Amino acid sequence: MAIRNTLAGSLAIAACVIPAAFAAILQSPTQLSSKKSYDYIIVGGGAGGSVLANRLTEDNYTNVLLIEAGSSDYKNLNIAVPQLAAALARSEFDWNFTTAGQPGLNGRSIPYQRGHVLGGSTAVNYMAFNTGSRDDWDRWANVTGDSGWGFDNIVKYIKKMENFVPPLDGRNISDEVDVSIHGHSGPLHISVSGAKVATDDRVINTTRELPSEFPFNLDQNSGDSLGIGWTQVTIADGERQSAALSYLDPILSRKNLDILVNTQATKVLQTGVSGGKPVFRGVQFSQVGSGKFTTLKATREVILSAGAIKTPHVLMLSGIGDSSELSKFNVSTIVDLPDVGKNLQDHPLVTSPFRVNSTDTLDNLNNATFVAEQLALWQKNRTGELGVATGSQLGWLRLPDNSSIFETEPDPSAGPTSAHFEFILIDSFIDFSAPPPGNYFTGFTVLVSSSSRGYITLNTTNPFDPPFIQPSFLSTPFDIFTMRESIKSMRRFMAAPAWDGWILNEFGSFAAAQTDEQIEEYARNTTVTVNHVTCTVGMGKTGSSGPGTGALNADLTVKGTVGLRVVDASAFPFIPAAHPQGVTYALAERAADLIKGVSTC
Ligand SMILES: Cc1cc2nc3c(=O)[nH]c(=O)nc-3n(C[C@H](O)[C@H](O)[C@H](O)COP(=O)(O)OP(=O)(O)OC[C@H]3O[C@@H](n4cnc5c(N)ncnc54)[C@H](O)[C@@H]3O)c2cc1C
Ligand SMILES: *[C@@H]1O[C@H](CO)[C@@H](O)[C@H](O)[C@H]1NC(C)=O
Ligand SMILES: *[C@@H]1O[C@H](CO)[C@@H](O)[C@H](O)[C@H]1NC(C)=O
Ligand SMILES: *[C@@H]1O[C@H](CO)[C@@H](O)[C@H](O)[C@H]1NC(C)=O
Ligand SMILES: *[C@@H]1O[C@H](CO)[C@@H](O)[C@H](O)[C@H]1NC(C)=O
Ligand SMILES: *[C@@H]1O[C@H](CO)[C@@H](O)[C@H](O)[C@H]1NC(C)=O
Ligand SMILES: *[C@@H]1O[C@H](CO)[C@@H](O)[C@H](O)[C@H]1NC(C)=O
Ligand SMILES: *[C@@H]1O[C@H](CO)[C@@H](O)[C@H](O)[C@H]1NC(C)=O
Ligand SMILES: *[C@@H]1O[C@H](CO)[C@@H](O)[C@H](O)[C@H]1NC(C)=O
Ligand SMILES: *[C@@H]1O[C@H](CO)[C@@H](O)[C@H](O)[C@H]1NC(C)=O
Ligand SMILES: *[C@@H]1O[C@H](CO)[C@@H](O)[C@H](O)[C@H]1NC(C)=O
Ligand SMILES: *[C@@H]1O[C@H](CO)[C@@H](O)[C@H](O)[C@H]1NC(C)=O
Ligand SMILES: *[C@@H]1O[C@H](CO)[C@@H](O)[C@H](O)[C@H]1NC(C)=O
Repeated sequence: MAIRNTLAGSLAIAACVIPAAFAAILQSPTQLSSKKSYDYIIVGGGAGGSVLANRLTEDNYTNVLLIEAGSSDYKNLNIAVPQLAAALARSEFDWNFTTAGQPGLNGRSIPYQRGHVLGGSTAVNYMAFNTGSRDDWDRWANVTGDSGWGFDNIVKYIKKMENFVPPLDGRNISDEVDVSIHGHSGPLHISVSGAKVATDDRVINTTRELPSEFPFNLDQNSGDSLGIGWTQVTIADGERQSAALSYLDPILSRKNLDILVNTQATKVLQTGVSGGKPVFRGVQFSQVGSGKFTTLKATREVILSAGAIKTPHVLMLSGIGDSSELSKFNVSTIVDLPDVGKNLQDHPLVTSPFRVNSTDTLDNLNNATFVAEQLALWQKNRTGELGVATGSQLGWLRLPDNSSIFETEPDPSAGPTSAHFEFILIDSFIDFSAPPPGNYFTGFTVLVSSSSRGYITLNTTNPFDPPFIQPSFLSTPFDIFTMRESIKSMRRFMAAPAWDGWILNEFGSFAAAQTDEQIEEYARNTTVTVNHVTCTVGMGKTGSSGPGTGALNADLTVKGTVGLRVVDASAFPFIPAAHPQGVTYALAERAADLIKGVSTC
């Protein structure tokens, strides 16, 4: 595949030569031409912004400026090599956010990673690819009153983005995925892991031994996600497929697209009034530390795709938000929109580590000599352990209908095809701290339908300071119940005969957490995030107003404004019971048609 060969070449020369392909990428606002005007200015080049930059410039009479805070180094080796993803946290590619102390986590603050580079969080994520369940999408259709967000309509946008390619090792995957339901000509290359690992057959055998609790699902992206199945990933031919590589790299020669990197949008600016509503076609932006601010006006729209932390932050800095919050910081309110920054939804994660009776695990990647050998192999032909997925299987599971919690708490899931909790099954030790010596298997359990709601608000009025981030994890009885039950379910999974001879024992403080009280304490003390923050500028029914009705209309325009839209994961009204990148891509694919005014149904 041509893209991969190009990458191999540019990796070697990236440090000293700016390849010709970077011609459309401006490194500083001073490189903008004063003669050029833009129809659309997109803020943020992640999943949402990259799709739009691509689709809107398909019409070569439409001029687009994409502004990205991070660099254009999306081919960096740590980004390209899947198993080097951990090196991206607290690096130049991370915004380095930290949450406020969370009451449900015994007051702990936790790191809140977000991608800071062209490609956004898709350039730093763990590459699991899901497209959401039927009920996840149908709930959006209900909440917005727009059937175009329903699953039956969205399927065509999912197929439009996908290009399902064979795994690197060329194995027969007919028992791992239903290839026939996937797209094969879209920009985003997806696959299953490039090679099998030692625990794969034990996971699948567990689904045969305990089929009622852990049924096998051939394709979790069919609309019915429930069960244990093979992880689909944004990895192709051993290499990460970010939004920048998939949606921007192939179109850098388009003359109607300019990409301005190393530049932060600090505000959207009111440029007039139309039909009694403020028009926001202006953007103010700046390079960190430069002290210089530039403003520019789009002729049609400004589109915020800065992600679920920065999109609400920029809106609030611009005077669009909850007036009682803004007034605390002397920001004068232009549009009183109480839902901006509210309704934050994310997926908390707890680790269940087990010691294993084998040296054939991915823990070998903790050995620097071995990694150097593997990196040489990866650079040669993309093979070896560095190109495989983190977690070859996922499980999407529901609490039993007769669970005691439903006597007192409503079910927050979207419906019967959506999970309450998830398993991520990993052939090594991983808990985001320094790995201990030895060989391990790790089960992550993730709460994917939660009833806790967090928020983002201003912390200072300096646009370069982070906002105040409060995810409020494990703050409801349903959430702590379900997190606890997910860990018990993981223990039942690992107790299946399929694991005899492999699992030795539970490891560390996990092993000590056995009673319900101890498991709850373990969860509160160790929960982190799987980095799925969404819903902070959620959509609702077009024209409805007041707290809880959504900050966006069903077409993603910002309520009470003209010329301003949000296209990223902040626009979700509910988080899907799924890893959200695929859902963000699909949302942006439909948004592109909404913006172009072509039929989307
Ligand atoms: C560590 C990690 C692991 C994850 N793992 C997975 C996974 O395995 N599977 C999955 O599906 N999802 C995963 N996700 C989540 C997924 O990547 C995101 O949901 C998705 O990328 C969201 O897309 P977005 O367009 O909303 O935001 P992003 O992709 O984050 O893009 C936002 C972009 O806007 C830029 N930006 C922000 N503010 C400004 C500003 N003021 N001016 C200019 N530019 C700005 C940012 O630098 C960034 O490039 C993970 C995320 C992280 C961080
Ligand atoms: C747009 O593309 C068409 C077809 O490729 C080409 O003929 C035309 O010259 C292009 N116009 C501009 C403004 O680039
Ligand atoms: C995040 O922190 C790391 C480590 O301190 C630093 O190198 C990096 O530049 C920071 N990221 C940004 C975007 O400032
Ligand atoms: C808010 O800002 C103060 C400094 O003004 C800082 O000490 C604090 O950590 C910030 N809080 C959060 C949650 O970012
Ligand atoms: C959508 O609304 C209809 C009618 O109120 C309801 O029957 C259905 O269960 C809802 N579906 C979801 C997924 O919320
Ligand atoms: C893959 O395996 C399936 C089931 O065993 C079989 O029917 C199919 O023919 C195989 N495909 C190829 C290309 O070998
Ligand atoms: C999985 O089950 C099959 C069929 O029973 C068996 O042949 C195989 O050895 C099992 N694999 C493992 C790793 O236990
Ligand atoms: C807001 O303005 C008032 C009056 O000028 C001042 O006293 C107060 O400190 C300001 N608050 C902030 C957060 O800047
Ligand atoms: C580390 O990897 C090297 C190279 O593969 C190998 O020779 C060595 O035995 C490994 N060390 C340990 C402690 O496993
Ligand atoms: C990749 O290179 C290694 C080392 O030379 C070789 O053993 C292996 O067969 C190659 N794999 C492929 C798929 O070309
Ligand atoms: C729920 O139903 C199952 C199967 O009918 C039963 O085994 C289990 O004990 C029930 N659980 C509760 C909490 O009632
Ligand atoms: C460890 O594996 C060996 C064979 O590989 C087996 O003989 C032994 O019983 C296993 N030990 C445990 C505790 O399962
Ligand atoms: C959990 O954290 C609290 C501090 O917040 C500590 O007192 C307690 O010992 C911890 N529990 C466990 C089981 O580690």
